[in-house]
Amino acid sequence: MSGEERIAAYLVTRMPATYAAAHAALGEVRARLGQTGVTSVLDVGAGTGAASLAAKECWEEIECITMLERDAALSEAARQWLPDARVLTDDLLRVESLPRHDLVIAAYSLGELDPYQTIAVRLWKAARVALVVIEPGTPCGYSRILQIRDELLQAGAYMAAPCPAATPCPLTAPDWCHFAARVERSSVHRRIKEAALGYEDEKFSYVALAREPVPLPGARIIRHPLHRPGLIELRTCTPRGAGTERVTKRDRERFRAARQAGWGDAIS
Ligand SMILES: C[S@@+](CC[C@H](N)C(=O)[O-])C[C@H]1O[C@@H](n2cnc3c(N)ncnc32)[C@H](O)[C@@H]1O
Repeated sequence: MSGEERIAAYLVTRMPATYAAAHAALGEVRARLGQTGVTSVLDVGAGTGAASLAAKECWEEIECITMLERDAALSEAARQWLPDARVLTDDLLRVESLPRHDLVIAAYSLGELDPYQTIAVRLWKAARVALVVIEPGTPCGYSRILQIRDELLQAGAYMAAPCPAATPCPLTAPDWCHFAARVERSSVHRRIKEAALGYEDEKFSYVALAREPVPLPGARIIRHPLHRPGLIELRTCTPRGAGTERVTKRDRERFRAARQAGWGDAIS
């Protein structure tokens, strides 16, 4: 594909999905960090700017966005989405020192970088408030997230999301921690993919680590809730491990909350 076709294909078929995943993950991080001042963002491997756009939606107070992207055509597209942002067209592996920002985001980019663990440590050093890493919701993407999570927790980072505790991940293969973001497909998106459905579910794994302790939820829902007559089954991750909570209609308040809850939500 020519450069222009490649960018157009990314804009139409991938960016809506990576934007949806980043928006879901960052919305959760925002909820956890609360009013902690986040006014600047560094987005590495920014591509066409999906994660920066999502960050701007989640934190209205953001004043400064820096996007680092090595592909000049992609960074030009990012500039068009976010004309006020600083766009650095450079190879992260050649950048000696990363400018410090409140929030550092690597969305779908660490998997393209080698060795990603060392790079994650560099990104953490550049994060004044929090680092968010998002990867595809595959076993491989999850294993990268897990490694970064464990290394940075050991280095003194605090868990912000999605885990309800900084204890070792209780999931074991063939299970893995991932979430899904619903993406509405435009008609051109459907045509390009020869898809019948008007939507797709983008699967992603993520971790957010913070400089200061963050209030964590009692549990996180790690699968689509199962709805049966008078009963909702929630697969949850809690500080005591993963399990299934059965909420019956008799527990009226809990049942009402469970009816509204979805995969990825934090619950008390
Ligand atoms: C799958 S895309 C994700 C783009 C964007 N973050 C998103 O979520 O839509 C990965 C991006 O990382 C960029 N990238 C990979 N290695 C890089 C490096 N060494 N320095 C800067 N950017 C890099 C690629 O050019 C690509 O745009």
